[in-house]
Amino acid sequence: VVLVFDFGSQTAQLIARRVREQNVFCQIVRHDLSADRVKEINPKGIILSGGPASVYGEGAPQPDPAIFDLDIPMLGICYGMQVLCKYLGSDVTPGTSREFGRTTCRVHEPNQFFAKIPEELTVWMSHGDQVNQLNEQFISLAATSSCPYAAVKHRQRPTFGLQFHPEVTHTEHGGQLLANFVRRVCGCQGTWKISSLIDREITSIRERVGKSRVICGLSGGVDSSVVAALLYRALGSQLSCIFVDNGLLRKGESDSVRNQFQDHFKTDLHVVDASKLFLDQLAGESDPQKKRKIIGKVFIDVFRKEAESIDDARFLAQGTLYPDVIESGANADGPAETIKSHHNVGGLPEELGFELIEPLRDLFKDEVRKMGLELGLPEQLVWRHPFPGPGLAVRCLGEILPDRLEILREADAILLEELRNAGLYRKVQQAFAVILPIQTVGVMGDGRTYEYVLAIRAVTTDDFMTADWAQLPHELLQTISTRITNSVRGVNRVVYDISSKPPSTIEWE
Ligand code: XMP
Repeated sequence: VVLVFDFGSQTAQLIARRVREQNVFCQIVRHDLSADRVKEINPKGIILSGGPASVYGEGAPQPDPAIFDLDIPMLGICYGMQVLCKYLGSDVTPGTSREFGRTTCRVHEPNQFFAKIPEELTVWMSHGDQVNQLNEQFISLAATSSCPYAAVKHRQRPTFGLQFHPEVTHTEHGGQLLANFVRRVCGCQGTWKISSLIDREITSIRERVGKSRVICGLSGGVDSSVVAALLYRALGSQLSCIFVDNGLLRKGESDSVRNQFQDHFKTDLHVVDASKLFLDQLAGESDPQKKRKIIGKVFIDVFRKEAESIDDARFLAQGTLYPDVIESGANADGPAETIKSHHNVGGLPEELGFELIEPLRDLFKDEVRKMGLELGLPEQLVWRHPFPGPGLAVRCLGEILPDRLEILREADAILLEELRNAGLYRKVQQAFAVILPIQTVGVMGDGRTYEYVLAIRAVTTDDFMTADWAQLPHELLQTISTRITNSVRGVNRVVYDISSKPPSTIEWE
């Protein structure tokens, strides 16, 4: 394993992903993880991430100094390099100007760290401070016009520093640099593979579960499907799945989950049609947060009741992913503070009384997709856009009325079909329709109409924390708009959402 010490960087997760792309297991840990704990973990390498602080600033995050005496290969990136150089006796000063963006870097000292990398490359800088004086223990490997120490190496130790960010795509050959570090410097073999992970998980699930029964909640999304597929492979008929139809699903979704299930797992499936209960409880409510709360509560009640009807169930499987683990601070070695409060409706409370199985808790989304494909799930399912737990409730603005839901379902189906036909479904990360609770005037034939406004949202994003609106071709938008107004009764106006996140969010509620 390679450890990434997180000094509050936006890109710590990206570093870990890039390392894993080399088939090397990588975990993110707190910046102040003790040297004793590091010794126990016994990593092959340590990467110190960037961070927003200044190394001399008040409260600047500092590592346990004893980690520098462990004789483990180290790579410091940006703030991480400054930390490393400072602890090993070099001078860091505030840069005269902040440097942000692309710049050209020249490699002037051949080294295995720069193997297979041209002498000149474009790199991405984002810093205020920089190392201004290297002590004699370090040598400079590369420089930019404003940064004499863009890459440095310790003379005796396998310790490197980069002022630029190799993990971002704007840095050319950044992946190769990280590969050189983990393969050549740390000596990692690159044997961590999804297929071996599947085998390992299956063995450990079998050992843990014995002859008991495991319940898995299906949502129709990627994560829960992959969990179910993995558990099915491990346990066969000891698996029971529960799918709650909350009446807030997209067109044909309930059937497609049922079919997908029957195609892939021939085991115990409980489909609970609770749509009436959900819609009754939501009646008259138009506050977004209250809507979410109601849905979360009803979901837990319905799920609990169904789970209780399943004999011998001792375990509950959940599709918790690595970013959730990091962000919730649940990882004992992870960054301390909660970065984002979780709005994951559909999460189940501990008092349901099951022991949890979370076989995806070490994985990023792209790795979950790979696992899904290896487990034989269809591409269409594996590449499905995320769909929020509260479903269409957060896309039917204001009060949820059956006719509005019906309009939304039809319009959304048209949007997704056209997007697929245009070959653009996988080019955007999320696309959906939203129905507004207002009507506007239109004209159809010779008559005046007064009907709903439908909004189309399509975004591109890496991590759903920030997003851009997708620049869909105008002809495609036109086709979508025409089809919707022609064939969905009750809509006379279609608008396209051109807001990015921030300041907007992806969903409208
Ligand atoms: P926002 O709207 O916060 O969405 O920019 C970011 C991502 O999270 C999804 N989302 C939710 N998922 N329960 C969920 O399970 C929710 O309440 C919820 N709200 C937003 C959203 O679809 C997007 O992928």
